[in-house]
Amino acid sequence: MIDRMSRRRLLQSAGAGVVTAAASPLLGATAAQNAHRLPPGFLWGAATAGHQVEGGNVNSDSWVSEHLTPSAFAEPSGDACDSWNRWREDIDIVKRIGLNTYRFGIEWSRIEPERGEWSLAALAHYRQMLEYCAKLGLRAMVTYSHFTVPRWFAAAGGWEEAANVDPFVRFCEKAARALGTGYSHALTFNEPNLAAQLSWQPDFRQAMSLFAMGNAAAARMVGSDRFSSTLTANPARVVPNQIAAHHRAVEAIKTIRPDLQLGLSLAMADEQAAAGDSALERKIAAVYTPWFDAVKKDDFVGVQTYGRNIVGRDADLPPPPQVERTQTGMEFYPEALEATVKWVARATGRPIIVTENGVATADDKRRVVYIDRALAGLGRAMASGVDVRGYIHWSLLDNFEWNRAYTAQFGLVSVDRQTFARTVKPSALHLGRYAADNRL
Ligand code: BGC
Repeated sequence: MIDRMSRRRLLQSAGAGVVTAAASPLLGATAAQNAHRLPPGFLWGAATAGHQVEGGNVNSDSWVSEHLTPSAFAEPSGDACDSWNRWREDIDIVKRIGLNTYRFGIEWSRIEPERGEWSLAALAHYRQMLEYCAKLGLRAMVTYSHFTVPRWFAAAGGWEEAANVDPFVRFCEKAARALGTGYSHALTFNEPNLAAQLSWQPDFRQAMSLFAMGNAAAARMVGSDRFSSTLTANPARVVPNQIAAHHRAVEAIKTIRPDLQLGLSLAMADEQAAAGDSALERKIAAVYTPWFDAVKKDDFVGVQTYGRNIVGRDADLPPPPQVERTQTGMEFYPEALEATVKWVARATGRPIIVTENGVATADDKRRVVYIDRALAGLGRAMASGVDVRGYIHWSLLDNFEWNRAYTAQFGLVSVDRQTFARTVKPSALHLGRYAADNRL
């Protein structure tokens, strides 16, 4: 628990060892004072991920884990938002709310449901989505791998096996050929550093025993003793393989699409040292440094930020009791975005696209506040010289929030769980106004 004094010290040293003082409303800067005109090609978008919105993604590793007893998941993904069928409506909404970019994921387990068996229909589906974005004048960003993998890949040891880099590169080649030229940006991986980052959270450490039981049960279910699911795998074994996979996938995709802006996204919290003893440097070396080195030749780095972590002696500390928390238990702290884009720019020297930023809340007014404060911070970062080329909000839809299932609402748009009817929230129109003004 952090007392008042340490909390003040903590705010004063915000971003210690990582960034210069984190932006804070305490500094008194307003969005108006920092109004920053953006270049015409700035990306204003909203994001989804295949498994979280499509529904019926039965050949993925997550589907297996969701159906175990006991399961770490509050409920299975089921039909999710039925975006497999309603994707036109989703893209129409992106356009209607005034954004210019849609980021979505392609599901490897639909494209290659069994090793070497390719679904031409699934590839055609994603190509149609891209063609429809182009028809509406929207830019598209494609995520090749957003956590989930085919169950045959997980059964073969998943990312823990170096030999499994090859099938991933083949999938990227196949997809890059089939998708055509209807997208300008792509990510190989979404947040490959997330498991390492989460391993510093006490709650997640507790849940690991459930995950380990889950992996063992999943192994029995798929008839393999090597089942390894992306989010619950051992980061020490996974990271070297995913770094190799990223580099080889970039090479393969660029051979087919040399014009594509290509990178990966990182889970970036504003990491701050707790007063007294803190393992901040050790955490940064484990969670971030390998990836900062890995992206140094990429076209851009995707920054994905939700809040800050206060790093204690060997784990993150829980937020102090008096702070506002979001539905996922994090502190409501939109200022983290300014700190993380500055940090990533300094650590990698690459241009930045914010590929996710958002808040889990049932109160859409708090989302509006979150957006205003996050964008004010982004404006300050840009005014200080950081090369930021886009802001993509997480998420377009209230969707399947992994182990929390449907209990956390990140969407600019709500989805009726019975009828799948979409309702645009005021926060969506609020973000659309920023896009129309094209200034921060
Ligand atoms: C992930 C999303 C997730 C979001 C909110 C990010 O870590 O990329 O899949 O829904 O955070 O938790």
